[in-house]
Amino acid sequence: MDHFLYRDGVLHAEDVPLPEIARGVGTPAYVYSSATLLRHYRLFDEALDWGPHLVCYAVKAASNVAILKLLGDAGAGMDVVSEGEYRRARAAGVPGDRIVFSGVGKTEAEMRHVVAGGVRQINLESEPEMRLLSKIAAEMGATIPVTVRVNPDVDAKTHEKIATGKSENKFGIPIARARDVYAEIAALPGLQVVGIDVHIGSQLTDLDPFRQAYRKVAELTEALRADGHTISRLDLGGGLGIPYARSNLAPPVPFEYGQVIRDEVGHLGCEIEIEPGRLIAGNAGVLLAANIFVKEGEGRDFLILDAAMNDLIRPSMYGAHHDIVPVTEPAPGIETRAYDIVGPVCESGDTFAKGRQMPPVAAGALVAFRSAGAYGSVMASEYNSRPLIPEVLVDGDQYAVIRARPTFDEMISRDTIPEWLDRS
Ligand code: LLP
Repeated sequence: MDHFLYRDGVLHAEDVPLPEIARGVGTPAYVYSSATLLRHYRLFDEALDWGPHLVCYAVKAASNVAILKLLGDAGAGMDVVSEGEYRRARAAGVPGDRIVFSGVGKTEAEMRHVVAGGVRQINLESEPEMRLLSKIAAEMGATIPVTVRVNPDVDAKTHEKIATGKSENKFGIPIARARDVYAEIAALPGLQVVGIDVHIGSQLTDLDPFRQAYRKVAELTEALRADGHTISRLDLGGGLGIPYARSNLAPPVPFEYGQVIRDEVGHLGCEIEIEPGRLIAGNAGVLLAANIFVKEGEGRDFLILDAAMNDLIRPSMYGAHHDIVPVTEPAPGIETRAYDIVGPVCESGDTFAKGRQMPPVAAGALVAFRSAGAYGSVMASEYNSRPLIPEVLVDGDQYAVIRARPTFDEMISRDTIPEWLDRS
């Protein structure tokens, strides 16, 4: 459930009509609902309330500091994968002991920054990485809680670009090698084994792959304990999918996911960490855009929006579906037409949908892309020199710009002309 509903014929974000935001901020813009973000975080929190746990929001999904502050103040931990994300979480006031540092290629500089700033745990993904962290931690006089991300070789049954738990993927250490790796860590200075980490992919709509992966983690927990390691924490990753089309069969909900976790690893007495991103932020945000022109093509009509692939890359990158709805509620029974919905960027890949049935959309009309809160704004670029678009947070009947639209001058002034060209 989200808080983007038609009221009096107009799509609202909570109690704010979207046309009001369009007038105040311009389009395109990302608009997030605080109530939806909090609701989704709490669903996970409650799904795990059978035992000690921490829900670590995957910052990569939507990383605006205001969003992190909202979730952090509600008690969320954070899963970060770069120094930039770590700094964002800290800027939002999240203490180091609620921040988990994940990622397949952490640099020495990043590790030093995070060790100095304080961290709940670092999830290690390779032997070279653990040796480097050991050296850094020992030099800095720190002892860092660590887990090893294991690759359980489970098919997550999701899009190939976002599956991470098969042996051919770059992530984690093959689970068969885990006991040797833990033995090496135990002998290294500066590292303290606290648990095991696993993350098998994103947008999973079936619980079975989670079940298989968590069963393997449970077996490994017993084996590592028998080897003498303290395994008191299990980081079970993110990945629970969301409904992108209203017509979809609803994927499993956090409560059911929490029960799978309980079934598979509940008996081990470990503190559970999870790292959901998409389910918290995805349906908590829309991309608000305006239709610039309706263009009649050969046997098809195009809606040419002011939003483009640089603002929301998911359709062109993954062939992802986003529901695109008119902000003015269509009259009941109105006949729909098929549109190709595109942006102004100069490539054919800048297509959001082909042959999409929509009520007639006039030039100037507003539309909203649903489910755009996760992996939307964070994956945007300035391709075609289109400045990044603003982000807006709604809370009840108030809204605030949480990232302003840069001016053209701000965008251009980041470039510098070298002295040898500047002969004027
Ligand atoms: N933890 C780790 C280690 C991850 O790599 C990810 C996502 C998550 C947690 C959060 O997963 P979630 O709950 O959001 O599924 N850009 C793609 C999604 C990439 C996901 C990358 N890792 C998309 O737009 O579909």
